[in-house]
Amino acid sequence: RTAVALGCEHGAWVHVDGAFGLWAAAAPGRAHLVEGAELADSWSCDGHKWLNVPYDCGFAICAHPDVHVAAMNYAASYLTGSGGPVPMPGDLVPESSRRARGFAVWAALRELGAEGMAELVERCCRLAARFAEGLAARGLEIANEVVLNQVLVGFGSDDRTDAVIAAVQRDGTCWMGGTTWRGRRYMRIAVSNAATTEADVDRSVEAVVRAVALI
Ligand SMILES: Cc1ncc(COP(=O)(O)O)c(C=O)c1O
Repeated sequence: RTAVALGCEHGAWVHVDGAFGLWAAAAPGRAHLVEGAELADSWSCDGHKWLNVPYDCGFAICAHPDVHVAAMNYAASYLTGSGGPVPMPGDLVPESSRRARGFAVWAALRELGAEGMAELVERCCRLAARFAEGLAARGLEIANEVVLNQVLVGFGSDDRTDAVIAAVQRDGTCWMGGTTWRGRRYMRIAVSNAATTEADVDRSVEAVVRAVALI
């Protein structure tokens, strides 16, 4: 049973933070990773990560239209939403006046097509695996099973990990943030830029090794 199914069975509102992860569904070889996500009450996902459209662009998808509209439509009496049975676009998002973020999403999907999107996801996953292999070969700890584009790297203690992350960020070759997973701090690598190459990964591995040597 998936965690989503378990939550649903217990009557929880299950939200899937699929900022990166939901894009697994676009790649046939990775889609099994999000099996069961369709049971969730809501999903969030980003366009400005794996789809590579400009900031800022995210999606919220909710299985309960009434709840979605109640959370997002106008509460101010002097502003009126649609009020009708079919929600208007402004009833579904926090802002009413906004730029046409959807246009860039449409154009990117149209240009890539299903195959192009699958290829982009696969390519980034392969680059993440290259990161993990490169760092492991230098004696560094890879904490997660690298099944998508995420790699968690540990550097001994939490303090040391945070110091290495800061040194990598100062170095500037690449940018990696930190995360807490199962009670420990890790450097979190996420590969999603369509322009990232194997050479970029190799240069970045060297930057991490350099940072480790400084700490
Ligand atoms: C899993 C996950 N959720 C949420 C976020 C935050 O996304 P945003 O900056 O689009 O709000 C990130 C950013 O890296 C993320 O990786």
